[in-house]
Amino acid sequence: MTDSTLPDSSDFTTKVLDWHERHGRRNLPWHAQKNPYLIWVSEIMLQQTQVATVIPFYQDFIRKFPDIHALAEAELDEVMVQWSGLGYYTRARNLHKAARKICDDHDGHFPETLSEVMRLPGIGRSTAGAILAFSRNARHPILDGNVKRVLSRYHAVEGTPGKQKTENRLWALADQHTPADRIAEYTQAIMDLGALICRGRNPPCKECPVASGCLAYAQDRVASFPARKPKKPRPLKSCRMLLLRRSDGFVLLCKRPNQGVWGGLWSLPQLDDPELDVNQYCREMFDCEITSLNSLDRIRHGFSHYELEIKPILCEINVPETIQMDGDHGYIWHDPKYPATAGLPTAIKRVLALMKKIDTNQSA
Ligand code: ADE
Repeated sequence: MTDSTLPDSSDFTTKVLDWHERHGRRNLPWHAQKNPYLIWVSEIMLQQTQVATVIPFYQDFIRKFPDIHALAEAELDEVMVQWSGLGYYTRARNLHKAARKICDDHDGHFPETLSEVMRLPGIGRSTAGAILAFSRNARHPILDGNVKRVLSRYHAVEGTPGKQKTENRLWALADQHTPADRIAEYTQAIMDLGALICRGRNPPCKECPVASGCLAYAQDRVASFPARKPKKPRPLKSCRMLLLRRSDGFVLLCKRPNQGVWGGLWSLPQLDDPELDVNQYCREMFDCEITSLNSLDRIRHGFSHYELEIKPILCEINVPETIQMDGDHGYIWHDPKYPATAGLPTAIKRVLALMKKIDTNQSA
């Protein structure tokens, strides 16, 4: 379709804005102010996570790190603790890195141009546009997953999302619909339309303010847009994880390297090699003897690129008094009676909960 045959853009925009006045989200904790730091934190949290989940994490995070300086001066570990449970931990590492960059390169002031904002770690074109639209009412189109769905349906864009040609077309459409003023309102409105009405499954098109101009709706092909990416099967990996428990009940946690899965978080000793002998591993790695060994139920955890099957093994150990393990060396003794003060991935919390459940059942 050529642009001259496109439905009227201002009509679309006006209807979306009118709908938002009546039905859009308001009074979210990051609304009603223009502070780019607060908006940035909220947008990063909202990247892969629903609004209802984000709200308590956002409030705690801002209480702990009320401005860019507080975030930049914090240790990465403290940031990971606040993020723990929210998932996609690269977001937290990038947030911290970007705060330090803003302090170093921009004197602690959040940058004001799209290209400068996009140069910060973890911020792509759409997030940069949204931050500047919300904080400065600057005119930048946005194209997050929700907006892509709205536009690909409204204009019946056939290409596969992610392909450059499709992306270019969607960006051009996003730009065309972005008004000259009321940018912040429009940005929130188009996001909300995607999240609340133009949903992935079973969208309530009868309630949609732009259904009359929607090509997918007119063709009765709403479910065909956006075109699906050919699905790659998610490989299944498996590993053993050791709950090395001292006689006082403390369990050994070890720190993951900063790069990669669960980077910078606290995990359990992990054996990827199924042939490795647990007794020998403990002797060599930790200079300890296992006095009893118990396999617990397996746990499955989904990552974006693979599924991990964890086989937890509870090992009672005798640890020589002399063994020194402190956080600075990547190991820490954790008392499972209390919630972990360090950042633990959800899957590890599940393994610890499993161990607790077994203890409770045994003592009942
Ligand atoms: N997803 C990303 N940004 C959002 C926002 N500002 N409101 C609701 N959902 C969002």
